[in-house]
Amino acid sequence: MTRPKILLTRRWPDAVESHLSERYDVTLNRTDTPLAAAELKAALRAQDALCPTVTDRITADVLEGARAKIIANYGVGFSHIDIAACERLGIIVTNTPDVLTDATADIAIMLILMVARRAGEGERQLRCGNWTGWRPSHMIGTHVTGKTLGVVGFGRIGQAVARKAHRGFGMNILYHSRTEESDQGETEAGGAKYCTDLAELLRNSDFVSLHCPGGAATRHLIDEAMLAVMKPGAFLINTARGEVVDEAALIRALESRTIAGAGLDVYEHEPHVPEALARLENVVLLPHLGSATSETRIAMGMRVARNLDAFFAGRAPRDRVA
Ligand code: DGY
Repeated sequence: MTRPKILLTRRWPDAVESHLSERYDVTLNRTDTPLAAAELKAALRAQDALCPTVTDRITADVLEGARAKIIANYGVGFSHIDIAACERLGIIVTNTPDVLTDATADIAIMLILMVARRAGEGERQLRCGNWTGWRPSHMIGTHVTGKTLGVVGFGRIGQAVARKAHRGFGMNILYHSRTEESDQGETEAGGAKYCTDLAELLRNSDFVSLHCPGGAATRHLIDEAMLAVMKPGAFLINTARGEVVDEAALIRALESRTIAGAGLDVYEHEPHVPEALARLENVVLLPHLGSATSETRIAMGMRVARNLDAFFAGRAPRDRVA
């Protein structure tokens, strides 16, 4: 019996590549070089399934003439895929929720601590040989325990961050989300308070952590005006998608100390990180590491495998988003 042809656009964990190779006729990307639009288009025409990542822009043009009837994304976010075009063409799209919730929430908590306690700055100073020893006035940061955290987007990851921040650091939680107030969040995050208005959350938070999806609906949700509403001593954390923040406006806000600092794992035009951002001491910059633990990356791959298995067995994939 011929096996469905699937293509993975990047290298995945060995265990997952082997698992998939036992079930499918798999084309691997051994060089791990991102595919050009023409290569993605050719793959969609030749394969039964395409398995992309956040680095692949699956536009309406790329989708045109596709033979594949499923795009099984390796990752929870899918703003790099033109969902409307997929729906028009009858192509199913799946993602990998749940399995990366804790890893991503952990990175958000780490960024809160790093930027508040000037960890990156301190490490740079020490590694450069510029540390002269302990003194009462050396590299004074901001206290985290007991402060107020505003969570924007209260899905799985937002709720996990709220829970960890509340239980671990006694933080008070405010949250804003486009959907209705969440009772689950209320209990799990220990009395998190819903803010109908984003500006109200920004005005009252010492740390603001973004967890909403990317895409047109949230593009530049945090713009110059919203940054101006934040407390001058507040920090912005972004582990969601770069486009949620107007990066140029953020750089101006950090330079002028409109806000105290930022912890970023995602950027507007990845992998490009503006020079002006990298020059600033009051920002911690990570290279999109949210889900980067071996356990999580294997679990993400297995989740893709399960979605493919269901689809090719004629069942509904559990993680269908379109
Ligand atoms: C995700 O899962 O969305 C990560 O950001 C990688 O795409």
